[in-house]
Amino acid sequence: MSNEEKIIKRVLSGVQPTGGLHLGNYLGAIKNFVPLQDKYQSLFCVVDLHAITVWQEPEELAAKKCEVAAAFIASGIDPNRSIIFNQSQVSEHTQLAWILNCVARMGWLNRMTQFKDKAGKNKENVSVGLFSYPVLMASDIMLYKATHVPVGEDQKQHLELTRDIAQKFNNDFKKDIFPLPEPIIMENAARIMSLRDGTKKMSKSDTSDYSRIMLTDSKDEICKKIRKAKTNAMPLPKTIKELDTMPEAKNLLTIYSACLDEKFESIFNKYQGKNFSELKEDLTEVIINKISPIGEEMKKLMGDKVYLQKILENGSLKAKKIAINVLQEVHETTGLN
Ligand code: ADP
Ligand code: TRP
Repeated sequence: MSNEEKIIKRVLSGVQPTGGLHLGNYLGAIKNFVPLQDKYQSLFCVVDLHAITVWQEPEELAAKKCEVAAAFIASGIDPNRSIIFNQSQVSEHTQLAWILNCVARMGWLNRMTQFKDKAGKNKENVSVGLFSYPVLMASDIMLYKATHVPVGEDQKQHLELTRDIAQKFNNDFKKDIFPLPEPIIMENAARIMSLRDGTKKMSKSDTSDYSRIMLTDSKDEICKKIRKAKTNAMPLPKTIKELDTMPEAKNLLTIYSACLDEKFESIFNKYQGKNFSELKEDLTEVIINKISPIGEEMKKLMGDKVYLQKILENGSLKAKKIAINVLQEVHETTGLN
């Protein structure tokens, strides 16, 4: 594919450097970024400015940024082909975000369900940044005129907001500056649930360590967590329909199929009517085969912080080259230059 064709299609996605990375982050997001590098010019951003919308310990934040960069590289994102960079090192993100704050409408942001979930009953006391978080996300995307954004199901609403902001900007200034970015919701971008409760998503904010498998878990830890994963007393059902009332069983099979990139049905057929112990034994091996090499590589990379910081710095310089031009165009269009 020629460079010109690649530029017409540009991918951008972001991962927050909060907490360690777990199997849900990998199977639902990072793993699906990898094949996109072949088709699109790709930018993958460590979104530290999004992370600080809730409190982050300063000394931990730096280490977590390196961890996300390490996870990107260990999962197969090639820093020579894609731009791996750090949001706060490209100051144009916040500059464009301010302008977009003046384009986005209160009513649009009031509808964002993630804010409602995260703020909960504490609405008066959360940061203003948590509320305007989706505008910064729109800025991340629009600053590179990204055309495609791979995200998990939970980020779809934020992407729709980005399209609304881009559309309004183009209309207000009567200039077709921004493409309307398309979400890429991967077909087998699995939604991975907690190992302790199949109705809750696997998340780093869960209080139980046994609810999630971290990418850096040892083989022993993976074994233990799968052994302790919640299941039903009876064997696996004979029909897929019955899984609707067995969220934990469904989750284990989902993890299995996502790790192997095989159809859910074919994995289900293999284990229908069998005991959970058999499924768990095989699943442990499947997860270890998939995750352990990535975890090992991550640990190796994290041992060389200077290398990771260099990757982020170089990536940020490359990103900045694109960002400067787009921000300049925005300044000219809005009369700010
Ligand atoms: P967490 O919920 O653990 O705080 P984030 O919100 O930082 O994770 O998510 C980072 C990325 O990983 C997002 O693209 C999100 O869609 C994806 N992701 C997070 N948890 C899961 C999960 N349990 N299953 C699938 N994808 C997930
Ligand atoms: N909001 C995303 C999340 O929580 C992270 C993110 C920030 C992002 N900026 C982005 C994702 C731009 C895609 C594109 O997962």
